[in-house]
Amino acid sequence: MALIDKHSVIERNATLLLIFALIVVSIGGIVEIAPLFYLQNTIEKVEGMRPYTPLELTGRDIYIREGCYVCHSQMIRPMRDEVERYGHYSLAAESMYDHPFQWGSKRTGPDLARVGGRYSDDWHVDHLTNPQSVVPESVMPKYGFLKRQLIDGKYIEDLMKTHRIVGVPYTDEMIENAKADFAAQADPDSDYDGLIERYGDKVQVRNFDGQPGISEMDALIAYLQMLGTLVDFSTFTPDASR
Ligand code: HEC
Repeated sequence: MALIDKHSVIERNATLLLIFALIVVSIGGIVEIAPLFYLQNTIEKVEGMRPYTPLELTGRDIYIREGCYVCHSQMIRPMRDEVERYGHYSLAAESMYDHPFQWGSKRTGPDLARVGGRYSDDWHVDHLTNPQSVVPESVMPKYGFLKRQLIDGKYIEDLMKTHRIVGVPYTDEMIENAKADFAAQADPDSDYDGLIERYGDKVQVRNFDGQPGISEMDALIAYLQMLGTLVDFSTFTPDASR
């Protein structure tokens, strides 16, 4: 009996086919799942990653609320054309404090994983207010109203506590000082030493939208200017030993 004939026996017997299919699928499943129980961590630790500051976290919430992810991904795939256009491919660790992650599956606009520092704050204000004024062929909607929506971080403590529940290591001290840190990051004349102490000296402190008061525009730009800047890729080497 040729092998193909033996196989036809299985194909004609539904019960036998079901049993063999289950065996094959189980083997595949075990091979994929079992190692995860033995790995301490599936995310390589990468220097520089830190939880988002209160202002950045607020900006991230606005990003989600406005549906920016509908047109923008935040994941640079390890393929040559992507790496040449956007920079180093995204690391798992770079989304470790993202709940939910913003990888996205649609790119009507460019990937934003490393947009931080690529443009000035003024450019972002102009672009968000009227994208067509800087990129005439843009199909991106206008978000100028964000400048007029002033915010005071009323819910920032609750937001950070919620992120802590799902695993972001916000300390009690960070949560206690959330409102002060929130305000300090948007005001270069404030005493922002505490903010820097808690989140590191890479935190960008500026009046992001250039107008008095803290607006949703400030928070969103603080978030955009941070994206992709936390890990220093001039010194990063992938840990191949894992
Ligand atoms: C309808 C789809 C769409 C939505 C929604 C959208 N964008 Fe865009 N975005 C685009 C397109 C298209 C471009 C490229 C042209 C341009 O620069 O305007 C772009 C460009 C950008 C850029 C410049 C990126 C670069 O590398 O040049 C930034 C930053 C940006 N968008 C941020 C946002 C933010 C923040 C939001 C949410 C408040 C948002 N976008 C919502 C379509 C969109």
